Amino acid sequence: MTFQPDAPTARDKPGLYRELLTQVEGVIAAERDPWANAANAAALLFATLPDLNWAGFYFLRGGGLVVGPFQGKPACVRIALGRGVCGTAAAERRTLVVPDVHAFADHIACDAASNSEVVVPIVSEGRLVGVLDLDSPSRGRFDADDAAGLERVAAVIAGGCDWRLAGIDSF
Ligand code: SME
Repeated sequence: MTFQPDAPTARDKPGLYRELLTQVEGVIAAERDPWANAANAAALLFATLPDLNWAGFYFLRGGGLVVGPFQGKPACVRIALGRGVCGTAAAERRTLVVPDVHAFADHIACDAASNSEVVVPIVSEGRLVGVLDLDSPSRGRFDADDAAGLERVAAVIAGGCDWRLAGIDSF
């Protein structure tokens, strides 16, 4: 099978996320494996959303977050719950939009090019399994429309995978 992402046509952000959501639903529809679906979702996010330098997943394994499928430069492998933007979003189970990562005291710098970040928890059947993390080289790249759109993407991925297939914990 080949998959050619459609070039986005929407001019506004909510419209772009509606198109993206349809494409994510398409790439994961025939598969329940979390690693496969996260890999294709990361590729789609990175190819579709402008002005990113990293897009991917951290999953809960062995009591902490471990890097999963992503696009971008190699990243820090393990993040403790409650640490960094990812660990804070995971522990508090809420989306964090960070307009300037240099002003976030506990930010973990993986790629020196990152200046803003958004992290969205992935919750399946009421339990956290990981986070979706996007970084941008531009300050203030992410806003409430990105948070809302990415939360819908995270919900589709959460519901589209069988998390027992992947050795991923939940809490
Ligand atoms: N900046 C993140 C670490 C992950 S990288 O951005 C890929 C954090 O502070 O948790």
